[in-house]
Amino acid sequence: MLDIQKIRADFPILSQKVNGKPLVYFDNGATSQKPQIVIDAIAQYYQEINANIHRGVHTLSQLATDAYEVSRGKIQNHINAKHAHEVIFTSGTTHGINAVANGFASLLKVGDEVLVSALEHHSNIVPWQMLCERTGATLKVIPMNEKGELIQSEYDT
Ligand SMILES: Cc1ncc(COP(=O)(O)O)c(C=O)c1O
Repeated sequence: MLDIQKIRADFPILSQKVNGKPLVYFDNGATSQKPQIVIDAIAQYYQEINANIHRGVHTLSQLATDAYEVSRGKIQNHINAKHAHEVIFTSGTTHGINAVANGFASLLKVGDEVLVSALEHHSNIVPWQMLCERTGATLKVIPMNEKGELIQSEYDT
C-alpha cells in the first residue's frame, strides 16, 4: 500500500499550509511539483555543469551533453521506447503536440478526418483545429455523456 505521508515528505512544497490546511496540489497537467531529489539535481546542474548541449567542445558542454543524453536513455527505459532517439524534449505539451500536428501537414488533404475527444485539454485540440484549417481536413470530436465518459458508439467504424 502506498505510504502517502512518505511520498508527500519527498515534496518540500507540500509541507506548507494554504488557507490553514495542508497543501493538496492537483494542477499537475499544467505544472508538476518537484521532489527534493529533482530540486537537488537541477541545482547541481546549474552549480556544476550548466552549458550548451550538442554544440560546444569545451568541458562543461561535454558534461552537459552527456547528462542530457543519459537522461534521454533513462526516459527511454521508463516509457519502454524502442530507441533513445524516440525521446524528444519539448518545452511542454502544447509545443510537443504542435510539432506532431505540423508533421502531418503535408500528409493531410480534403476528405481526411482528424479525430479528437471532447475530453481533451485545449493543447490537444487547437493544434488539430489549425492543421485542419490549413489542409482542408475535417476535425471530428468524439462526444461524451453526462458522466464524462466518451460515447464509444459515436466513433466505432
Ligand atoms: C490538463 C492540461 N493538459 C495540458 C496542458 C498544456 O501543457 P503545457 O503548458 O505544457 O503546454 C495544461 C496546461 O495548463 C493542462 O492543464
